Amino acid sequence: MTTKHPAHRPANPRFSSGPCAKIPTFSLDKLSDAALGRSHRAAVGKDKLKAAIEGTREILGIPADYRIGIVPASDTGAVEMAMWSLLGERKATMVAWESFGAGWVTDVVKQLKIDAEVKTADYGEIVDFAEIDFDTDVVFTWNGTTSGVRLPNGEAIPAARQGLTICDATSAAFAQDLPWDKLDVTTFSWQKVMGGEAAHGMIVLSPRAVARLESYTPAWPLPKIFRMTKGGKLIEGIFVGETINTPSMLAVEDYLVALDWAREIGGLPKLMNRADTNARVLWDFCDRNDWIANLATDPATRSNTSVCLKFTDERIQDGAAFAKAVAKKLADHNVALDVGAYRDAPAGLRIWCGATVESSDVEALTPWLTWAFEACIEEQA
Ligand SMILES: Cc1ncc(COP(=O)(O)O)c(C=O)c1O
Repeated sequence: MTTKHPAHRPANPRFSSGPCAKIPTFSLDKLSDAALGRSHRAAVGKDKLKAAIEGTREILGIPADYRIGIVPASDTGAVEMAMWSLLGERKATMVAWESFGAGWVTDVVKQLKIDAEVKTADYGEIVDFAEIDFDTDVVFTWNGTTSGVRLPNGEAIPAARQGLTICDATSAAFAQDLPWDKLDVTTFSWQKVMGGEAAHGMIVLSPRAVARLESYTPAWPLPKIFRMTKGGKLIEGIFVGETINTPSMLAVEDYLVALDWAREIGGLPKLMNRADTNARVLWDFCDRNDWIANLATDPATRSNTSVCLKFTDERIQDGAAFAKAVAKKLADHNVALDVGAYRDAPAGLRIWCGATVESSDVEALTPWLTWAFEACIEEQA
């Protein structure tokens, strides 16, 4: 007979890896100051876009001489505009250890057809950064959202390098320490750790990235939404809030509210601490149970945002079907929504632990994981 399920549910069952849970204090009336129905080029709109840029700089500790822009098409748009605008001047190294990184490899090798060395690692593993030639342009994902494997730090990236580093940090920014001096282009979106809305991406450019933009013109045509220069000069307006095309002022307001929350709770150290605390609940849970394990093989590379777990019990007959059944049970009981592993990743669960998630909810989820696992084992028989 199936064991009785736990009595206590997480107050918020939203553990999706994107869009991620809204800030704990969220309600729609917090957006009432949005500049709706106004031009984003009017003072009120421009001020808000500028506040989003400068709030990002403040919370993330981005150096004053780095440019920050709000760009179209979420994180994907930001990564694509960086790759299409900057690559091709020299050889590239494409680094991937999960699905999103692999997508950037495909774009550079098959679409842009750039001379690139490709370095990959399997799900759960990471590429050895000590073996990368940083005199090439290096494209990588800081936190592999679909494998839950992150770069622990930027130590292997030399401060003096000839190439540019282009880093997709969308599931790392606001939860993990990003070494700005090692990153020439950093991208992320609002929909991850800050629980914001998708649609807009952010691109952060080091002075070296700007120098490349101003000195190099790619051999291929660039669509308007990728163009950051005009007549060989950086379009500075983009980096003070004069966006390339029309942004959603509702999404901007929502991001400003999230930045206010981040400020109120204690800024980046507190955001990182919340993610660490959440992830630790699941890591400890794995340590206590021999039927579940972190997909990341090296503890130093375990993500504190997209925690990816695999089932290791020998009784499991069909790994993919089993993991799906567990995720469905958790959703059906409204204790954890959207926690199935990413479609290209090994079977398992992916539980978002970013800063907007409450550790009490992760705690409340763990007995349900045990219950769903045991119920699915029974149902197999
Ligand atoms: C590492 C990584 N890169 C890119 C993306 C795509 O982000 P977006 O849909 O915001 O463009 C995601 C989304 O989950 C991601 O995790």
